[in-house]
This record gives sequence, C-alpha cells and structure tokens, in this order.
Amino acid sequence: MSDKNSPNTSNPDSSNSAKPWAGRFTEPTDAFVEAFTASVAFDQRLYRQDIQGSIAHAQMLAHVGVLTDSECQQIVDGLKAIEADITAGNFSWSVTLEDVHMNIESALTSKIGEVGKKLHTGRSRNDQVATDVRLYLREEIDTISAELTRLLNGMLDKAEAEADTIMPGFTHLQIAQPVTFGHHVLAWAEMFVRDAERLQDCRKRVNVMPLGAAALAGTTYPVDRNFTAEKLGFDKPAANSLDAVSDRDFVIEFISCASIMMMHMSRIAEELVLWSSSLVNFIELSDSFCTGSSIMPQKKNPDVPELVRGKTGRIYGHLMNMLTLMKSQPLAYNKDNQEDKEPLFDTIDNLKGSLKIYADMLPHINVNKQAMYDAASKGFSTATDLADYLVRNGVPFRDAHEVVGKAVRSGVEQGKDLSELNLAELQSFSDAIKDDVFDVLTVEGSVAARDHLGGTAPKQVKLAVKALRKKLA
Ligand code: ARG
Repeated sequence: MSDKNSPNTSNPDSSNSAKPWAGRFTEPTDAFVEAFTASVAFDQRLYRQDIQGSIAHAQMLAHVGVLTDSECQQIVDGLKAIEADITAGNFSWSVTLEDVHMNIESALTSKIGEVGKKLHTGRSRNDQVATDVRLYLREEIDTISAELTRLLNGMLDKAEAEADTIMPGFTHLQIAQPVTFGHHVLAWAEMFVRDAERLQDCRKRVNVMPLGAAALAGTTYPVDRNFTAEKLGFDKPAANSLDAVSDRDFVIEFISCASIMMMHMSRIAEELVLWSSSLVNFIELSDSFCTGSSIMPQKKNPDVPELVRGKTGRIYGHLMNMLTLMKSQPLAYNKDNQEDKEPLFDTIDNLKGSLKIYADMLPHINVNKQAMYDAASKGFSTATDLADYLVRNGVPFRDAHEVVGKAVRSGVEQGKDLSELNLAELQSFSDAIKDDVFDVLTVEGSVAARDHLGGTAPKQVKLAVKALRKKLA
C-alpha cells in the first residue's frame, strides 16, 4: 500500500452520516469497532476490479432499462475518473467508509452528484466483493501461468544443455544409480507442468460471476446476468445466488494449487542447498543470487532457495487458515469472509516472487560436471547394471543379485569400486562374467542403456525436451 493511499484513520468525519447504511442507526459507530471491522487498508488493492465490475453492472442496468443511457454514461465516466485518481495516488481512503466498495461509491456521488446513488441498484456488497475477488484472482492466475511457462522454458534449455552430464541419482539420499543431470531437471519440469495444468483447471471454477445474486436471494430488477458476465469475460453467471455470495472454495482451491507449487519449489531448494555445499560441490549458484556472511568472509550462502523453502510453510498456513475460515459457515454471506483477502494476497505475492526468482536463477546455475561425474562413479552405482548383464547371460535375476552383492562386499573390503576389480576377481563370483563386462560397469554405459521413454539416456532426455517444448508451445 502506498503512503499516499493509506487510509486516514483519524478521519474527522467519523459520524455515521458518511455511511451508506446510516439510515437504520441512531448512534455513531464506536471508533474502535469502525477500525476493527474496516477492510479498506487491504481491500483497496481491488479498486480496478471493483470499478470494472461497477461499470459492467451500470451498463447492464441501462441495457435492461433500469438506468437511462445518460445516467449510465455519467456513472461510467465518473468511475473512470476515480480509477485514474486512485492510480495516480490522488485518492483519500477513509476508514469510516469501511471498504473499497463504499469508498469508491461515495467518491462517485461526490463527483457526479445524485445519479451516483443509482449505481448500487440491484446489487449488494456481497455479490460485489465476490465478483471483485474473482476478477482479481483470474488476472493473477494468468500472470502466474506466464511465469510458470518462463520457469519451464528455462528448465528445458538447461535439460537440453546438460543432457549428457552424468550425476549420481539418489534414493534415501544414498548414491543409487547414475543419471543425467538433464533427466533430473526434466523431473522438476514435469512437476511444474502438472502445476500449470492444475492452475488452469482451478481458473475454470474462479471464472464464474456472482453479480445478480445481490445480498443472497437475487434481486427484483429484471437483471440480465449473461450480459454482465459477457462484459466481464466470465464463462457464466453463478447458478445459485446463495452459493454465489458465500463460498470461497475457489480461494481455497487456488491456495492449494499454490501450496503444491511451493512444495515443489521447496524440494528443488533442498537439492540446490545440498548441491552447493562445499561438501558436495555439484553446482555453484551465481553471485547475484547469493548473499555473504557478516562475520565469515568465505561464505556464499544459498539464501534464495532457503527463503523459498521457508515461504512454503507460510503458504501452507494460508491454506489451513482458509479451510478453517470456511469450515461450518452457514449460508449465506458472513463477515468472516472478509478475512479471505489477506491470506489470498499474501499467497499471490509470495508465489509470484518465488516463481520469478526461480525462473531468473535456474538458467544461471553453474554445473561442476567433474564433481558430479566422480560422485556418480562412487558408491557401486553400476551394481544393478552388472546384475542385468548377468541376466542377459542366462543367470536368473535373484541369483544375479546375490552374485553382485558378494562382488560389492569384496569391493568394500578392498576399498575398490566394481570397475576396479580385475576380470579374474569378477569371474570368481560367476562364470557368466566375460571380458565385455567392463562396458556395463562404466557410468556412461549405465545411463546410455536406459534408452526408453522416460529413461535417463541422453538420447531420451533430448526427445523428452522436444516433446515438452511442443506441449508448451
Ligand atoms: N468488506 C466486505 C468483505 O470483504 C464486503 C462485503 C460486506 N458485506 C456485508 N454484508 N457486510 O467481505
């Protein structure tokens, strides 16, 4: 929130006369209650969508003859002028006017006079706020989708560039089998492809229009809800007015998509932190994405992935917040729902920030190919390849597993890898071992042999990059 637009908490006019609902009341609102119930400090973020919704609503009212064309024109012009004022920072938000909706409506009447009071015909803040949030979230989903695509394209470039780079693959964080780094990056990409699909699916349920539901039961005016929905780019009007004003399941669904994305980013974070440790030394993050230590001059810390990992917990918190907010709420609108905005906005801000910083950072990861290669050659990572070799030479897999287990034990005792045992030593474990065995004991041979759809062979990685590029295009 800019200082210019911050709400004026010491509003001299805190009598009820400014409030649109003052008619029913004889005493002024308690000053603390007013501040406690106000949402303008955070919902002013919705001003563009609020005005967009109001313009479409006014045009619909003119279309069905509830407003004259001239009334509608004055309202539309007034709202556009207010939008320009707010954007320029020339708008004074008032806590007395509670929220973004009443602030703008009151400014409209100040600007254009009595006709401004007609805008709220056939509408309630209940269908208005639900519409604003949906319009806002729809826009943000589109921005987030574009950022996801940028992140994915960066991953595909990296995967292609590192299609032949050999690294150890892990299970239980123990060296398991050699893989290619390109294959590992493509595993990340698959996660975000699913995230992008999930987000598009969520968008379908966001893009439904509450307007026309009014407070809860609908309205007595002959509204044309399809007209308004079309003007606002909604797929359709909500089918039930009670549901339209009350459910925030679309916010929950979005934050759950966001939580899954953050979870994926936190997994990458963990690997980047581990790999950039001097103990492992697989990668170096570029200087512009790291920070130093105030006391230890040698330190270059992976703060960016660590912070993304940390923010994941914060987004999960918002998900739990929203699930609990909605739990047991009776129909229809309840003021509880005003509490949907801060978790939603904070989720959007931190998700967008995390995606942006990953999309910027990942292409600049420097890979230490030698360290990866050396690590892949350790830990008997080609043991499975030796077992498969024995099977090809007629040994049943369970017996082959036993033979290789013995060879590994002997290697451990001598401090040697399988490829460092000589042929006679290897043949002492099985006479199915011939002099071509060393071909399968190399890490290059191991990755190249996994040459099928979804496998780690460099050839397959390049094919998978092509297929994903096509999918994203
Ligand atoms: N500021 C409110 C919110 O965010 C707007 C709707 C208020 N409706 C009401 N009946 N008090 O939910």
